[in-house]
Amino acid sequence: MTPQASVLVPPNISWPALFSKLLPLVLLLLLQARWGCCHPQCLDYKPPFGPQQPLVFCKEYTKFGCCDLSKDEEISSRFYTIMDNFDHSGFTTCGKYIRSILCQECSPYAAHLYDAEDANTPMRVLPGLCRDYCSDYWWECRYTLSLLLEDLGNPPQFANLTSAIEEDHKRFCDVLELKDKQYCYPNVLTNAELNANLGLVREDPKGCLELCLQEVANGLRNPVAMIHADDGSHRFFVAEQLGYVWVYLANGSRIDRPFLNLTQAVLTSPWAGDERGFLCIALHPRITTVRKAYVYYSVSVKKEERIRISEFTLSAHDDNQLDHSSERTILEVVEPASNHNGGQLLFGHDGYLYIFIGDGGRAGDPFGKFGNAQNKSALLGKVLRIDVDNNDDGAPYSIPSDNPFIGESGAWPEIYAFGVRNMWRCSIDRGDPATGAGRGRMFCGDVGQNKYEEIDLIVKGGNYGWRAKEGFSCYDRKLCQNSSLDDVLPIFAYPHKLGKSVTGGYVYRGCQMPNLNGLYIFGDFMSGRLMSLKEDVATGEWQYNEICMGRDQTCRFPKLINSYYRYIISFAEDEAGELYFLATRVASATARAGVIYKIVDPSRRAPPGKCSIKPLPVKIKGKLIHFYPKEEFVINKKPTTTPIPTTTPKTTTKATTIKKPPVRKPIIIIKPPMPTRQTSKRPPASPTKAARRPTIKTTGSAIKATIKTTAATAVKPTAVQMGAANPATTASTGYRATVLTAAFSRIAQTSVSPTPATKKNTGSPSLPLNLPQPPPPTPPTSLKRPQTAGISPARRKHPAALTTTWAPYSSQKPTVTPTQKQKTPASTTAPGARDDKPSPGKKLASAAEGNQVHKRPRGRGGHGSKKRRGGKRRPAGTVRLVSADGSSDRGRVEIFIRGEWGTVCDDLFTGKAGSVVCRQLGFTTALAVMKRAVLGAADRRVRILLDDVECDGGERSLLDCKRSRVGKHNCSHEEDVGVICA
Ligand SMILES: *[C@@H]1O[C@H](CO)[C@@H](O)[C@H](O)[C@H]1NC(C)=O
Ligand SMILES: *[C@@H]1O[C@H](CO)[C@@H](O)[C@H](O)[C@H]1NC(C)=O
Ligand SMILES: *[C@@H]1O[C@H](CO)[C@@H](O)[C@H](O)[C@H]1NC(C)=O
Repeated sequence: MTPQASVLVPPNISWPALFSKLLPLVLLLLLQARWGCCHPQCLDYKPPFGPQQPLVFCKEYTKFGCCDLSKDEEISSRFYTIMDNFDHSGFTTCGKYIRSILCQECSPYAAHLYDAEDANTPMRVLPGLCRDYCSDYWWECRYTLSLLLEDLGNPPQFANLTSAIEEDHKRFCDVLELKDKQYCYPNVLTNAELNANLGLVREDPKGCLELCLQEVANGLRNPVAMIHADDGSHRFFVAEQLGYVWVYLANGSRIDRPFLNLTQAVLTSPWAGDERGFLCIALHPRITTVRKAYVYYSVSVKKEERIRISEFTLSAHDDNQLDHSSERTILEVVEPASNHNGGQLLFGHDGYLYIFIGDGGRAGDPFGKFGNAQNKSALLGKVLRIDVDNNDDGAPYSIPSDNPFIGESGAWPEIYAFGVRNMWRCSIDRGDPATGAGRGRMFCGDVGQNKYEEIDLIVKGGNYGWRAKEGFSCYDRKLCQNSSLDDVLPIFAYPHKLGKSVTGGYVYRGCQMPNLNGLYIFGDFMSGRLMSLKEDVATGEWQYNEICMGRDQTCRFPKLINSYYRYIISFAEDEAGELYFLATRVASATARAGVIYKIVDPSRRAPPGKCSIKPLPVKIKGKLIHFYPKEEFVINKKPTTTPIPTTTPKTTTKATTIKKPPVRKPIIIIKPPMPTRQTSKRPPASPTKAARRPTIKTTGSAIKATIKTTAATAVKPTAVQMGAANPATTASTGYRATVLTAAFSRIAQTSVSPTPATKKNTGSPSLPLNLPQPPPPTPPTSLKRPQTAGISPARRKHPAALTTTWAPYSSQKPTVTPTQKQKTPASTTAPGARDDKPSPGKKLASAAEGNQVHKRPRGRGGHGSKKRRGGKRRPAGTVRLVSADGSSDRGRVEIFIRGEWGTVCDDLFTGKAGSVVCRQLGFTTALAVMKRAVLGAADRRVRILLDDVECDGGERSLLDCKRSRVGKHNCSHEEDVGVICA
């Protein structure tokens, strides 16, 4: 069956000996295994995809990720359900964290972020964060963890733990952190190596395309062909060289009765590399009505070897069997030698039957004056085209009227193309699914003589050059220089160091692997090399890439394997256009060592639902034989540190012949494909619900219950210490607001109201308790609520940059803030503020003080003269943060100048200015500067005291910064600046 005369039997290599030589190399490869640590993968253990419709919530994953629109909507709804627990400032601060965390399900690296790449280990309930990001999250929004967990249905492993974790920075981040610094969120977004070719076919450093395989059938004896009926049944028919054709159902089960049993007639032998035998089958394109099939096989007639093309009719009782008594010979061609029997049969889009016949054998096409292939009075070395329709009466076939040599004397009218050596496997391009481009092209692999293997595009009347040429080079010099040769050059030829017997393949036009569209995939029978060609439409040139098996983690998807047996006998396409190849471990017609592999691109799949097929039911007579894969799934293999002999080297197909892996039962996935989510079923939070969360309130820094503010619960040492300069009495640092605070904040924010807010903003529980409306149904187009109006869409693209003025992510960590290194120690405030410390036990001013009306001092003489209750003078430049919920570490910035508290405009205010403010208040640094009154706008009676403030960061107070004159400004309270300190 080997279409190549030379080197038919592989040399007897001692594998153990070879292997010991390779050992150091293999070890090295194993050491490098980390290189491919993490591959794009979704939580359903499948590759990511480009959604069919754009996402509206997790927009950054619209081009490529793990969510389609309905998943996106589900996440959006979960987000708003969670965010119902927040007031506007909480929303602003924590929304971005919640959103980013929820949206990681859509990340193309979702499985990695959730530790879900290995289906046999437990999966995280929340995506793994980078340590710094986790720290920021903890500082700002730690109490949202319980909301997230609640949204996940309170996973048992966190039962009774959540509040403890929330309080403990280290434990919190130990739980949420993903140790891998490159692949944790958000670093994974910016990792250049990971993102460079995201979504494209993965290539190794040499440009070899890394694909994976799925075992589809096994135990076959030299499977030479696999075809489908194109009748909606999605069955496939597999031919074995010794003369069987088997029917496989769409689900992989095989019917035990053969579709065809020609074993008695077929001429072949168990000799490895025998090119004779049952070589091909083609079903009539209208099989359901015409009910005919055509076969191509070797036969011995009167001691003469022939190839025979014959016709069978489907059994009247069983669509899965041919009527064995119906055989009708269409054509027989005498073969002068036992090799080069050709063997391809297919129907063109024109409805005609194409027959590909070899040159008759031996080396160099020796028969006749100039061989058979260039001789149009021989059928050998040709592509024939015949019409088998309407042949029931009379001749078995007719000649299509436009066959190219119909009028040429001495030429067989059946000839469609010539100059063929031994075409082994041809296919017809279905055309681009969208544009139809390429449709109908006929590709063939033509096996070469001593030097070159070639791929040809078959055209009517074409001369493919043999024996004048082999590939692009001359074989028979005299013929080659004959100007009348006028041959069609191959689209590609490769030398024998890459392989010695081409197996033509298919142009991929299926649905499931969008990356492969238009790729012509073929292989070599002797070297086991898989190869691809892609046409550059602009130049018409074909670009070559080898195909290798995905290494390391690349193929760690359920059911995938990354090795194959190296005798690549044939390629195939199923009814949906997915691509397969047929190979065997032992190239003998009697060895049950053949496997059918489906080619899988692990880099990208089609969006869910796009490729679903519904096979039409098939009436089955006889029994079904279920399929059990025998090869070991990559996912079940031990990590690459396993002792060598059990690990199959990834890129060499040779290794596959070393040892057959043990038979495995189908994989059992013990993890659920997705965490179960409770989505928007949960009613909006109510006061009672909030009150039912005692654990949250009891903790010192909890702000959730903003009402309370027992100063004693303040846990942040710096805040307590520096309380004098910090009028906010609650040391709350979290940002989860209860419904009550949501109500407060609404009142507090009504800065346009002329009514003094004094009584309303004290946090007294006696406030009018308007049940808050759940936040208005926000169109899920963005995170934008009114408060975030100033955020530009561009910034929102990066989840971590949701808020306007974040410093680059890495610099948010207090310890790396440059300002901290400057002269002022973290706990030192401006000197003037130092003696303003409260006496112990003294009640601190209410957080809501900022909304009180401050009397403006008359005249300028008021500077510094105003006394507080304690009789102490408040120095000019003292600052405080005013927030609706009384947070000490964040709020609108107010500065005390000349006896009066006023606000600061935001337009030139940066993180450096923010750090001046924060250090005055005893914090280390400013985590964020919030512009456009995101942390609240002052009542209009509060003066705007500073504008155009530009600081270096080292100043003792804002008054020392570059700025406009006190009280001179061209802004409004809509531009009040706020800061978040840490
Ligand atoms: C959580 O606490 C409850 C009540 O104390 C207890 O019954 C339950 O077993 C605890 N669950 C876990 C997982 O510790
Ligand atoms: C495959 O499909 C056939 C026909 O629908 C059914 O009888 C058989 O049980 C299926 N095999 C498997 C493994 O599900
Ligand atoms: C195929 O045919 C041969 C001879 O006709 C017979 O011996 C053999 O049992 C058949 N095989 C099957 C699977 O039916």
